[in-house]
Amino acid sequence: MNESLTSRRLYARIAGTGSYLPERVLRNEDLAKMVDTSDEWILARTGISERHIAAEGETTSDLARHAALRAMQAAGVRADELDLIVVGTTTPDLIFPSTACLLQDRIGAWGIPAFDVNAACSGFVYALAIADKFIRSGAARTALVVGAETLSRMVDWRERSSCVLFGDGAGAVVLRADEDTGILSTHLHADGSKKDLLRNPVGVSAGFREHERNAGSRISMAGNDVFKYAVKALDAVVDETLEANALGRGDIDWLIPHQANLRIIAATAKRLELPMERVVVTVDRHGNTSSASVPLALDEGVRRGGIRRGQLLLLEAFGGGFTWGSALLRY
Ligand code: UT7
Repeated sequence: MNESLTSRRLYARIAGTGSYLPERVLRNEDLAKMVDTSDEWILARTGISERHIAAEGETTSDLARHAALRAMQAAGVRADELDLIVVGTTTPDLIFPSTACLLQDRIGAWGIPAFDVNAACSGFVYALAIADKFIRSGAARTALVVGAETLSRMVDWRERSSCVLFGDGAGAVVLRADEDTGILSTHLHADGSKKDLLRNPVGVSAGFREHERNAGSRISMAGNDVFKYAVKALDAVVDETLEANALGRGDIDWLIPHQANLRIIAATAKRLELPMERVVVTVDRHGNTSSASVPLALDEGVRRGGIRRGQLLLLEAFGGGFTWGSALLRY
C-alpha cells in the first residue's frame, strides 16, 4: 500500500464500472405458478417484472468476479495495480474466508487488503465510503469496490410477501486517486433498534438453532414498516448530502438509488425534484439485489443510460439493520 500521498488533497474517482447478472430469468408469471400472487400485484406494488437467479453452484464470488473483471477492463486497471478490495455482501459464499478474499484469489490480486462489509442492502454504499477514505488518506491509490449477492439462496419460496422481491447479481467499480474530482462526500447511518423489522435470523454465535434452521435461513420483513422508514430515512440522507455540499435540489444530474421498490425510488426523486428520466431504474428487470443494486444500476447508467463524465451523481441505499447512506460524486 502506498502511504506517501498524504500531502495533497485527493479524491476517489470512479475509473470504471462493471456488472453481471446470472443467466436465468424468473418472471412474475413464473412466480404466480409457485405462490398465490400475480403479475399485476407485483408490478403495481413494487415495479418489478423479472429478476435473475443464480444457477445451482453459482456463488456470490462467481458473480463478483465477472463484475470486477468488467470494471477493471473499463478502468484499464490490472490486478497487480489494485491496492484494496472491499466487497459489500450479505450472502457471502462462506462465513470465512470472506468473499473479498475469495475474489482476490480469483482475480490474482494477492497480498493487498481484502475484506467484506455486511450492511445488508446498504453494503455497496458502505464499502464505497470505506474505500473513499482509504484513497483520501493516501493509504490506497486504486481500489476495487464490489456489491454482490445471491439472495435467492435465502428466500422462502413459499412466502409470497418476500419471494417476489429479490434477485441475484453483482456490480463493481474501480476507484482511482484523482487530484481534480471524484467522490465529494459520503453519509452513513444505522439504527439497530429496528433490527427485527428486516432480518435473516439464522445465527452463528446466536446458534444454529433447529427451529430457525427448519424455518430456513430465510429473510423476514415487515414490508410496510420498512417502506415507511426507508422513505423518511432516504429523504433525510438526501437533504443531508445536499446541505453538506451546499447544493440545491435541482443540482443533481442523476440519482442512482437502491432498487427495492419503484414507489420508494419515485418518492426520493420527488424529494430531489428530479424527473424520472434522470433516475436510473433497474428494479423492473433486476428486482432487489441488495448490495448489488446500486453498482448494477450505476453500470447500466454509464454503459447505456447516458451518464457522462463531469456529471453529478447521487447514490443512496437502505437496508436491514436498519442501515442507510449516500454518496455524492462527480463522475
Ligand atoms: O431493500 C431493503 C429495504 N426493503 C424495502 O425497502 C422494501 C419495503 N417494502 C415494500 O417494498 C412493500 O412494503 C412491499 C412490496 C414488500 C409490500 O407492499 P405493500 O404495499 O406494503 O403491501 P402490504 O405488505 O401492506 O400487503 C398488502 C396486501 C396484503 O393483503 P391484505 O392483508 O390487504 O389482504 C398482503 O397479504 O397484499 C398482500 N400481498 C400480496 N398479494 C399478492 C403481500 N404480498 C403479496 C403478493 N401477491 N406477492
